[in-house]
Amino acid sequence: MLDEKFLKVTKKLFSPTFGTENLAPYLYSLIRLIRPRKILELGGGYTSIFILKALSDNELLFKDSSSVDLSLQNEHYFNQTFNPSKLHVIDNCKDGYTTANLIFDASKKLKLDPFLEFHETDYFGYAENIPKSELPLDLLWIDCGSLNTYHHVMRNYFPLVNRAGGIVLIHSLITNLHGALFLKQLKLAQATKEFNDFELISLLEPHKKRQNSLTMLRFTTNELTTIHSTLP
Ligand SMILES: C[S@@+](CC[C@H](N)C(=O)[O-])C[C@H]1O[C@@H](n2cnc3c(N)ncnc32)[C@H](O)[C@@H]1O
Repeated sequence: MLDEKFLKVTKKLFSPTFGTENLAPYLYSLIRLIRPRKILELGGGYTSIFILKALSDNELLFKDSSSVDLSLQNEHYFNQTFNPSKLHVIDNCKDGYTTANLIFDASKKLKLDPFLEFHETDYFGYAENIPKSELPLDLLWIDCGSLNTYHHVMRNYFPLVNRAGGIVLIHSLITNLHGALFLKQLKLAQATKEFNDFELISLLEPHKKRQNSLTMLRFTTNELTTIHSTLP
């Protein structure tokens, strides 16, 4: 994926203030790994293009499963009805450092635009405008915020995510005051009343002082146990 054209086009979207230099390729790999099809990003820019590229690469493989040795694969994955992948980005493009306004052109240059739906608006009060046909979301990626935002997102956007394995990713909670408070609230909810509802882990980039962590939450409320193998 890191061919010269991709690097050249994406470079223009990189904003050092937003610190997603490691996270963007990590998101690419994560999406190749867990194969979400419906993604919502709150706060777009550099990461958006890596997400679009991962959706496109996943879809190529899904459509052409002839190259895949199905005896080693989960046939249910390849037998499911085709459901077009989409990244919805919500960004009001008002931040002085934003590169969200460049996503559309970059996606066109890389022929990734069929996977993009850009909503240029405020994310406060907008959750109900995500088309019902795009729900439930497989992945919600939150790259913006203060405690107020996190609470709004938790109340209004978390319910859009699939309760059977859907993922929420949140940037930079661990060493930020608002973020750390929100993380404690998530942990408290999990420890008291939502133990069976989600799994939670945060990864820290120890070499950085800000924009330096990724929190991952996976909803398990409606997840059924599936066993594919018994032997090691
Ligand atoms: C941290 S940046 C996103 C960085 C991006 N993911 C990247 O990798 O470059 C946060 C973004 O959220 C947007 N934003 C901030 N407040 C917003 C709001 N209330 N509604 C919609 N977008 C908002 C900003 O315009 C900015 O582009």
